[in-house]
Amino acid sequence: MKLQNLVIFLITSFHLCVESTDSSHPQDPNSCASASRPPFSCDSSDPSTKTYDFCKTTLSISRRAEDLVSRLTFEEKTTQLVDTSPAIPRLGIPAYEWWSEGLHGIGFLTRVQQGIRFFNRTIQHATSFPQVILTAASFDPHIWYRIGQATGKEARALYNAGQVTGLGFWAPNVNIFRDPRWGRGQETPGEDPLVVGKYGSSFVRGVQGDSFEGESTLGDHLQASACCKHYTAHDLDNWNGVNRFRFNAIVTLQDMADTYQPPFRSCVQEGKASGIMCSYNEINGIPSCAHHDLLTKTLRQEWGFYGYITSDCDAVNVLHVEQKYAKTPEDAVADALKSGMDVECSTSARSKDFPVSYLRNYTKSAVEKRKVTVSEIDRALHNLFSTRMRLGLFNGDPSKQRYSDIGPGQVCSQEHQALALEAALDGIVLLKNSDRLLPLSKSRTSSLAVIGPNAHNSTNLLGNYFGPACKNFTILEALRNYVSSASYDKGCNNVSCTSADKKKSLEMAKTGDQVILVMGLDQSQEKERLDRMDLVLPGKQPMLITSVAKAAKRPVVLVLLGGSPMDVTFAKNNRKNWEHFMGWVPRSSWSNCTSANYIWRAQPRREITNDLVSTRFHQSSNDGHENASSSIYRKSLADQLNVKDSSNPLSESSQTPGYRLVSDIGEEQCENIKFKVTVSVKNEGEMEGKHPALLFARHAKPGNGRPIKKLVGFQTVRLGAGEKTEIEYELSPCEHLSSANEDGVMVMEEGSQILLVGDKEHPVTIIV
Ligand SMILES: *[C@@H]1O[C@H](CO)[C@@H](O)[C@H](O)[C@H]1NC(C)=O
Ligand SMILES: *[C@@H]1O[C@H](CO)[C@@H](O)[C@H](O)[C@H]1NC(C)=O
Ligand SMILES: *[C@@H]1O[C@H](CO)[C@@H](O)[C@H](O)[C@H]1NC(C)=O
Ligand SMILES: *[C@@H]1O[C@H](CO)[C@@H](O)[C@H](O)[C@H]1NC(C)=O
Ligand SMILES: *[C@@H]1O[C@H](CO)[C@@H](O)[C@H](O)[C@H]1NC(C)=O
Ligand SMILES: *[C@@H]1O[C@H](CO)[C@@H](O)[C@H](O)[C@H]1NC(C)=O
Ligand SMILES: *[C@@H]1O[C@H](CO)[C@@H](O)[C@H](O)[C@H]1NC(C)=O
Repeated sequence: MKLQNLVIFLITSFHLCVESTDSSHPQDPNSCASASRPPFSCDSSDPSTKTYDFCKTTLSISRRAEDLVSRLTFEEKTTQLVDTSPAIPRLGIPAYEWWSEGLHGIGFLTRVQQGIRFFNRTIQHATSFPQVILTAASFDPHIWYRIGQATGKEARALYNAGQVTGLGFWAPNVNIFRDPRWGRGQETPGEDPLVVGKYGSSFVRGVQGDSFEGESTLGDHLQASACCKHYTAHDLDNWNGVNRFRFNAIVTLQDMADTYQPPFRSCVQEGKASGIMCSYNEINGIPSCAHHDLLTKTLRQEWGFYGYITSDCDAVNVLHVEQKYAKTPEDAVADALKSGMDVECSTSARSKDFPVSYLRNYTKSAVEKRKVTVSEIDRALHNLFSTRMRLGLFNGDPSKQRYSDIGPGQVCSQEHQALALEAALDGIVLLKNSDRLLPLSKSRTSSLAVIGPNAHNSTNLLGNYFGPACKNFTILEALRNYVSSASYDKGCNNVSCTSADKKKSLEMAKTGDQVILVMGLDQSQEKERLDRMDLVLPGKQPMLITSVAKAAKRPVVLVLLGGSPMDVTFAKNNRKNWEHFMGWVPRSSWSNCTSANYIWRAQPRREITNDLVSTRFHQSSNDGHENASSSIYRKSLADQLNVKDSSNPLSESSQTPGYRLVSDIGEEQCENIKFKVTVSVKNEGEMEGKHPALLFARHAKPGNGRPIKKLVGFQTVRLGAGEKTEIEYELSPCEHLSSANEDGVMVMEEGSQILLVGDKEHPVTIIV
């Protein structure tokens, strides 16, 4: 195989200005209730622990887990298969909770008791990083890694303070955000498999305590455990009568291999994630928590996954009750355990009046009915206890171990809050700044008119799965720190904007020097269990924006908060009245920064992880969504990253080109044919700033169900005004220039491919 040599030189320009400030609000260690002792096993002051092999740190984790499992009675075993695992006092083993949240900083759910507690404890707050869709738009894996690291560290501080009964976070969410209406797209790094995979592995390495490059400094041990979810092809919650329990994703093998699986593979192979969550949905008719091929064959055998697999919450009941895939509860238990799932997340097990969990309550009868064997249960327990041991929870007194020096002062530290701010600044996307109104001049602006239902609401900045932020503020409050006089009106009754107070807004628009509209979405529009019907701004928001823009003295600034694409064609098309700025600001959770920093110093650019689209979806039929994983979105969002064009006629007429299976090329040759692409980037703007340079590849002849184009590299560079640099990408043809065939097998096809950066193209020829 030969590849034409190549070097690309090209210039891309950008204008931007970034400025950051520190923020500090460290935890007051003396603030409240006294600390309690963290839970641990193998207390050396208990003489019996000396006889237990599972307590001997000189033995391998596997041997220790094996010893522990062999000591459990059958009854004890069945209690440990649920996320709320009770204590086993006779062996000195405390209770453990598998469910903790850490999507963008340590989180909690108010409804459900989980592994981390804040209320009335020593540490009452934790650093809240921006919502993931925003952080992802920084295109900076170092930031993703550092956020994971900070989250893992804060978890250890909470553990040391006795506030943790579980060190496993059910994050990151690495589902491909292909359907832009998905209510949980905000939790994901977007829709591009490469970016999502890189986000996943970087975040996981940070949480678990590995280096950025992936070297383990801890051997088998973990700072905290990360869990990549929801495995797999999951991007629907509740749309037009179809819910996530009933959603059967129809996915071709080709699309699985090209799109949905790479982020999970990256999480497992690059990130060494110690947890995976199987999703509610079915994949081509088989629920993923009962999918032996996916859980055991692919994940463990092919990818070498080392860790535990949890169900999404109540997904085992769903097998029986909702999906009717399992005829009886015992069948559901057997389907899940036999396929490779290890622990059931059960919210119903928490019920005070009627606690029931499928694995706790029906495993015994499943064994009696010979639907599942004890060795299958032991396999699950082995994975579970191995993970707890890797967290150092079976090594005796934690005050004598690694991480014991992480105290409350490391939570909400200045360093972590500065990182949250940095992530926000780097992720926010300014789409248009043609008159260079931004950054907003402090001297030129004496009065602001701040309008909109998202302007004065701190909760809406937190997104979902948030924790108790170190500090709360609103955009209006921050603006008032920047410009002395700012009038405010909500504009709409709320974000849904079923009624708009046009009169007051127009008056304000006429009198203020500068109008700032803070519009967009909140959790009433997009959330878990709620997908959007279309991409337009809710209710009367477009009308209000247009009227205010007409009345204002100067171009207005439009700030859009939200976790998914918003259709603003109404504004673009109205050129006469719309000579102004549009910022796409995904909802986030800045814990302490002045809005001047994030709104006014962001760089204009187009690179976001979910593109703005102008398509209205509400007219598309139900068919579309039921088959969302495979159907209309590729066509209607053809402008987006990594979108496939299955309708291309060329695919039928063109003769089959020569190809080779990547697996036949072999690792050594794959290594030998790697090559470098050099791109020269110049900041032609007047301000210093950061810019992501994205390298794409596409086949010269589209077709065969391949992506229209595919992202193969991204790097973010910071340059001063007029400064120039060269970026080098290393491309591995086996990885970057291959694609899946109809059987889901990666192949290299003969022929030309085009590498693209911005509007510059360079051909590469592949001869097999
Ligand atoms: C908070 O903690 C203190 C000290 O541990 C305890 O006395 C008090 O009852 C707790 N309050 C609540 C509401 O749990
Ligand atoms: C399920 O098991 C738990 C724990 O053993 C028990 O308290 C509960 O009553 C059981 N629920 C049912 C419905 O059997
Ligand atoms: C913020 O918005 C949420 C969701 O719309 C709403 O429930 C809450 O009451 C609002 N808070 C304030 C202070 O307006
Ligand atoms: C900020 O708001 C969140 C969510 O309402 C809350 O949990 C947290 O305690 C608040 N933080 C502070 C410092 O008040
Ligand atoms: C917004 O206001 C409408 C009309 O008063 C109301 O029906 C709806 O529940 C409100 N939404 C939120 C999230 O508060
Ligand atoms: C952070 O919050 C504190 C307290 O409100 C404030 O004094 C400080 O200026 C804030 N820092 C930034 C960078 O906004
Ligand atoms: C979804 O796709 C499958 C397989 O292509 C097809 O049989 C089915 O009719 C489609 N469902 C809908 C609702 O369009």
